[in-house]
Amino acid sequence: MNTVFVTNFVYIISSVLFAFGLKFLGSPVTARRGNILSSIGMLLAVLATLFNGHIISFQWIAIGVIIGAALGALVAFKAAMTQMPEMIALLHGCGALASVFVDWTAYQVHGTVDLTNTITLYLSIVIGGLTVTGSGIAWGKLSEKIPGKPILFTGQKWFNVGLITAILVLGVLFILNPARHDLFLAILGLSLVFGVFIVIPIGGADMPVVISVLNSYSGIVACTTGFVIHNTLLIVVGSLVGANGMILSIIMCKAMNRSIGNVIFGAFGSVVKKAAGEKKEAKAISVEDAFLVLENAKSLVFIPGYGMAVAQAQHAVRELSELMEKNGCDVKFAIHPVAGRMPGHMNVLLAEANISYDKLLEMDAINPLMETVDVAIVIGANDVVNPASRHDKSSPIYGMPIINADKAKTVFVLKRSMATGFAGIENELFYYDNCRMIFGDAKQTIQALVAEFKSSQQH
Ligand code: TAP
Repeated sequence: MNTVFVTNFVYIISSVLFAFGLKFLGSPVTARRGNILSSIGMLLAVLATLFNGHIISFQWIAIGVIIGAALGALVAFKAAMTQMPEMIALLHGCGALASVFVDWTAYQVHGTVDLTNTITLYLSIVIGGLTVTGSGIAWGKLSEKIPGKPILFTGQKWFNVGLITAILVLGVLFILNPARHDLFLAILGLSLVFGVFIVIPIGGADMPVVISVLNSYSGIVACTTGFVIHNTLLIVVGSLVGANGMILSIIMCKAMNRSIGNVIFGAFGSVVKKAAGEKKEAKAISVEDAFLVLENAKSLVFIPGYGMAVAQAQHAVRELSELMEKNGCDVKFAIHPVAGRMPGHMNVLLAEANISYDKLLEMDAINPLMETVDVAIVIGANDVVNPASRHDKSSPIYGMPIINADKAKTVFVLKRSMATGFAGIENELFYYDNCRMIFGDAKQTIQALVAEFKSSQQH
């Protein structure tokens, strides 16, 4: 058996493992298995590549592995759960940067062999270049290292049109003269600049979708790099990542009732809009009084949102849910597809607190039941329970599907103030007659409710 045959055979096994890994990542129950399968796929792919006989320097690879693994472990251990989106942005940027370096080296060493090779090299450095800097800006905006609000200047549109035109014209020249290294470098440089200017006009609020789009781009770059260096596994894996990132972006946009075009080209989240309709006072309730209502509740739905992640309240929530169940109450959790700041954010937190998956109900499953629910506890959620999305045509979130918390007999909203959420708009739910605010950090409030339960059991 020759090495090429063995390498390709292992690549096929890796591709199958990646495909199944992705499939299993689609549900919290199987996600861990998906992660393990994909990791095995990656390990096999790396080993097959290392042993295929074309490696020039194991020494440099070892140095790269040590530095990369140390940095990766450090960042992963240090990053808090709420910093995951910005960390993902950074990782996509690194992936794209690696692809650009591979393209550059391949071009430097071998040049291009035919037209297809030149075109894929061109596409690779353009998409790779803009993904590197675009991801950097997305990271900066999410981590508040640079202002989150859209950065706009006069003539920005024409500047961008000029950049695109230059990248296209230089591209045609490069394809006609593939030996021109100066054109290669100019295209790469302009693509890096374009990445900055394509992301700065987008508000920090839309960054999660932008990151998902950039994730897709980093997959496409891996795929085009696969064509450049004739590596089938990169082509397969890059296509998987590219397609899955694009599907995820579309799912996120649908759940926010937006289009990808609107996210990339329209500013959103920068306006604070007052709640529509007559303005009443939001009514607060003490933990002691809320406990009396909960003690008599026969059904309870928790609706978690971004604030639960900030407060890290998930373990306290599990404790309260167990006490409520012991008290004869039916407890469920309502999961909105874009609650929090990344897909599956709430599922991950609740799973971490060992809350069983069968208690988690998706929006479409819980909404028909909401009218029969005694108490809905909204834990640090805001936009995903804003009833304005059902009737206020002037609201930026009009049409976004929500969890109908307002339909429950009583709603408790746990948040620290009357501040707005991600979309920057007031929530009319807080002024409804059946709604009571419990102000304070969500974890402390839940812990206080747990303490009330425990002390009542002792008496
Ligand atoms: P948000 O509407 O962002 O509201 C979160 C609320 O949590 C805030 O109003 C805040 O109020 C409260 N909060 C923060 N820290 C808290 C703490 N320690 N204790 C208690 N409350 C706290 O969250 P949501 O309802 O989950 O909605 C998610 C939003 O993100 C949607 O607009 C969605 O479109 C957007 N988005 C999500 C995703 C994904 S994939 N999940 C992607 C892109 C966009 P206070 O400051 O008053 O406490």
